[in-house]
Amino acid sequence: MDNSKQLIIGLFGFGTVGKGLYDVLHSTPTLSTTISRICIRHPDKPRSIAPEFFTTDASALLNDEQINVIVELIDDADAAFEIVKTALQKGKAVVSANKKMIAEHFEELLELQQQYQAPFLYEAACCASMPIVRNLEEYYDNDLLKSFRGIINGSTNFILTRMFEEQVEFQQALRLAQQLGFAESDPKLDIGGFDAANKLCILLAHAFGTITKPKQFIFNGIESVSLQDALVAKEKKYSIKLVANATKLENGKLAAFVLPQFVTEQDDLFHVHNEFNAVITESAFADKHFFKGKGAGAFPTASAVLSDISALRYNYRYEYRKIRNLPATTLSNDFYLKVFLSVDEIGKINKDEFEWIEEWHNEFSHSWLIGVIHAGKLSESNWWKQPGISLILCPDPIVESVDYRKISLQSLKLAGVAVSA
Ligand code: HSE
Repeated sequence: MDNSKQLIIGLFGFGTVGKGLYDVLHSTPTLSTTISRICIRHPDKPRSIAPEFFTTDASALLNDEQINVIVELIDDADAAFEIVKTALQKGKAVVSANKKMIAEHFEELLELQQQYQAPFLYEAACCASMPIVRNLEEYYDNDLLKSFRGIINGSTNFILTRMFEEQVEFQQALRLAQQLGFAESDPKLDIGGFDAANKLCILLAHAFGTITKPKQFIFNGIESVSLQDALVAKEKKYSIKLVANATKLENGKLAAFVLPQFVTEQDDLFHVHNEFNAVITESAFADKHFFKGKGAGAFPTASAVLSDISALRYNYRYEYRKIRNLPATTLSNDFYLKVFLSVDEIGKINKDEFEWIEEWHNEFSHSWLIGVIHAGKLSESNWWKQPGISLILCPDPIVESVDYRKISLQSLKLAGVAVSA
């Protein structure tokens, strides 16, 4: 895109983020960027701007040669993909915030960008205002980056904060997240962990060059986390967060998952509240970096869209160097996780699934254990996602290998048998 060229935008969607972008652009006149037309689905909804801006005809934007940037901010992932695909085929630059669509079609979108030499930017799809995609893409070398972990869904962090710090009930906290424009139109995507899983797919591609789909790693949301779990957390001086994790294992493969986790007060994520997101990267030599910012909401998301629009002025595009130039870093479920597992009926615990169990509490309608389980066992079955069962990771949950000799000595000692180490 030519730097001196005026950016003429065709905008798809005028919901929370679309309207936020419209307002933000109108308060940033120096950008010399104009929204030419807005394509919407429901023409009868009352709107704050003149009706002549709107159309329900997608081709009116896609076929308009004056429009050189398509900004896609709708929530229907299938329709969004068709819009983005057509726009790229026509050589238009595209900016999108649609994490589900990008995660589902990552490879096709790569090919389209390559084939039509059109830029496609999506900083707003991950962690809204926090510039994590560009940082992972540009700053960190694949072989130096060891891990990243973080809170990448604002709604669930908001709900957990309200539930456990202000004792607000789950449904009420969710309603508030919806009213404030944090939640997806289908909030199941947030609370079921799907949104965070989609974002993790995008981050994995930019951090490690790993193209994957949520079904290839373990993920869950926060629906099963109960107030009783929160009491255990409080007793242990932990907080509960929904944490995405990508860690290079000793064998060079990647462990990746999104699960609720107990975090200690020393963990930077402990202090991330409400709709804020945060990511901690760990790399050789640099050690740790901590990013934090508003991860949901109209203006924080619009600010990331704006940043992408403005990056188009200097021809910025993702080069996907880690995908193109390096052997793929593959995912593996061959590692162990230290977990807290609570159930409303003791019969729901299958002890044989665990390598070892460190704590065991049996109370009326809330029994729980802390133990170590192979990640492959969690990825192969869904028993731990059933109602009445809650699985929460312990701090530092990844256990790379298990020393059975040590464990058997430990269990013999626990059983009161005299052994020499
Ligand atoms: N529903 C998303 C969240 C919006 O809560 O994080 C921002 O991607």
